[in-house]
Amino acid sequence: MEGKEDSFRVTTSDDLEVSTYLEIAKQKAGEQPIVEKSPELEREAVVVIDFGSQYSMLITRRVRECNVYSEVLPYDTPWQRISSIKPKGFIFSGGPASVYDAGAPLASASIYESHLPILGICYGMQVLTHQFGGRVAIGTKHEYGHAILHQSAEGSPIFADLPLSFTVWMSHGDEIIEMPPGFTTMGYTENSTIAAMGNDHGIIGIQFHPEVAHTPQGKEILKNFLYRICDCTGNWTPGNFITESVAKIKEQVGDGRVICALSGGVDSAVTAALIHRAIGDQLTCIFVNNGLLRKEEAERTINTFQRNLKMNIIHIDATDRFLQRLMGVTDPEMKRRLIGEEFIRVFEEEAAKLGRVDFLAQGTLYPDVIESVTPENRAAAKIKTHHNVGGLPTKMTFSLIEPLRYLFKDEVRNVGLALGMPEEMVWRQPFPGPGLAIRIIGEVTRDKLEILRAADWIVMDEIKNANLYAELWQSFAILTDTRSVGVMGDHRTYGYLIAIRAVTSEDAMTADWARLPYDLLARISNRIVNEVRDVNRVVYDISSKPPSTIEWE
Ligand code: XMP
Repeated sequence: MEGKEDSFRVTTSDDLEVSTYLEIAKQKAGEQPIVEKSPELEREAVVVIDFGSQYSMLITRRVRECNVYSEVLPYDTPWQRISSIKPKGFIFSGGPASVYDAGAPLASASIYESHLPILGICYGMQVLTHQFGGRVAIGTKHEYGHAILHQSAEGSPIFADLPLSFTVWMSHGDEIIEMPPGFTTMGYTENSTIAAMGNDHGIIGIQFHPEVAHTPQGKEILKNFLYRICDCTGNWTPGNFITESVAKIKEQVGDGRVICALSGGVDSAVTAALIHRAIGDQLTCIFVNNGLLRKEEAERTINTFQRNLKMNIIHIDATDRFLQRLMGVTDPEMKRRLIGEEFIRVFEEEAAKLGRVDFLAQGTLYPDVIESVTPENRAAAKIKTHHNVGGLPTKMTFSLIEPLRYLFKDEVRNVGLALGMPEEMVWRQPFPGPGLAIRIIGEVTRDKLEILRAADWIVMDEIKNANLYAELWQSFAILTDTRSVGVMGDHRTYGYLIAIRAVTSEDAMTADWARLPYDLLARISNRIVNEVRDVNRVVYDISSKPPSTIEWE
C-alpha cells in the first residue's frame, strides 16, 4: 500500500453499483443523463487513440500509473472532443486491421496537424508508417510472443536508461518494410528489421507492446515517452483530482440539493464522500437496507457515514417489503428484477419526501463509460441481469452528477483514502446489488438468510485472519437448496449444504478459483458445521469463470 497518498495505483475491477438502477430508470423515462464533459484540465494528458485493440484501456491505465492523465478515444473521434482534453501527446493503439484493408482505421489529419508527439504501438506504428509515406507489408514470418529487442541507435530518448537489448512482447503479422522519409531505425529483433523507429519531431513507432506485463521494461518506455518526449511532469494524483473535482462540483451544484444512493460499496461511498467534501449538507444520502445484506453490514455503513464522515444519511429499513416481494420466487432473473424494481420504488418514495432535489449522484466509473460505447459490448450476449433492470421507472427529474466518471477502480480507492475514508470500506470486496438473494439457491426466506449470514461471517472471519482478504477478488458462502444426510453424535441429521466460493480476478470478466490452503478450508468447514445450525456439509467451488460465473445465480 506504499505511496497510496500521492500516486494512483491502477488495477481493473468492476464493483457494480446499485444506484445504476437509477440511471436505467432515467433513461427509460426518456431523459438522457447529462454527459459530463471531461474535467477541465490544468493537468497534463495523453490521449490513447484506439484502433480496435484489446489493450487500449490497458495502455490508458499504464499511462495513469505514471501519474499522467489519459483517456482512450476511438480513432474517428472528432478533433473538438480530442482537443478538449488538451493532450500533450498521443499513443496510437494496436488493432486487428491491416493498413491496406479497405476501410482500415487511420488517424485523422488534425492529430498530425497538432504537431504533438505520437507513440504508435504495433498497428499504431503501421498507421504512422503508412500515413507518413512508408511501406507496410504482410510479414514473411509472423511474430508472436517474446522477442529480444536490440537498440540500433544510440541515445534514443524512448529507450533512455534501458539496456542495449531487452525482452519485449510481440503480436503482429504485418511489418514495416520501408520507413517513411525522415525516420530512422531505433531497434530490431530477429524477425523484424524495423521493430522501433522515430523522427526528430517526437513521432515514434514500436512494433512491440509496452503496455503488457510480458514486456518487463514497458512502463519505463511509456514513462520515457511521457516525461522525455511529451514533457509531462506527472501531476495526476489523488490530491489534485480531489481539488479539481471539489471546485467542479461546487460550480455545477451551486446552491442545489444532491441525493446519492449509498450501497456500502466503494464507488458510491467515494462519490458521496467527494461530493460531501464539496458541498457538505447540500448532500443527502439514502441507504436502503433491502434485508439481503450481510451480518452487521447496514450498521457498519451507517456508522461510517454518519459518525466518521458526518454526512446527512437517511436509513430505510425496507427488509419487509423486499422479502414480501421475493416470497415464493426461485428464478434467479426474477429475483434480480424484483429487487431492482423494489429498490427504485423505495428510493423514489424517499427522494420525493425530501422536496426539491436537483441532482442525483452516481458512482459510474471509467470502464463502465468505455464499455458502454464499444461495438463488442453493444452486441455482447446477456449472461445475467446486472444493470439491466426491467420494469417500473417513473419519471425522475434530477440531473446526474458523476464525479468518478473518468477514474479506474484503484484510483477511486486512492481518492477514498485521500478523503480519509476507512481502509475497511475502501478495500471492501465487491458485493452484488441483489445481495444474499442470489447466494441462496431457491426461495429466499428469513430463516435461510440467517443461516447464510452466519456461514458467510465465518468465511470472512477466517479469510481475514489468514490475511487473504485483500488478495481475493471475492470470498463468500452460498446456501444451496441441497440437503444431505449426516451424523452428529449418535443422531442422523438431514441438513443444508453450504458452498464456499473464493476467486481471484482482475476485473470480474474472468476469474479463477482461489487455491486456498487446505488448513484454512478445514477451519472454515469445521466452524460452519459446528456453529451454524441446520448445516451438516460444506463444499468448495473449484470452477473458474468462464464457464462458471462468480455468483451462483
Ligand atoms: P458474475 O456472477 O456475473 O459476477 O461472474 C461478476 C461480478 O459482478 C458482481 N455482480 C453484481 N453486482 N449487481 C451488482 O452490483 C448485480 O446484480 C450483480 N451480479 C453480479 C459479482 O459479485 C461479481 O463481482
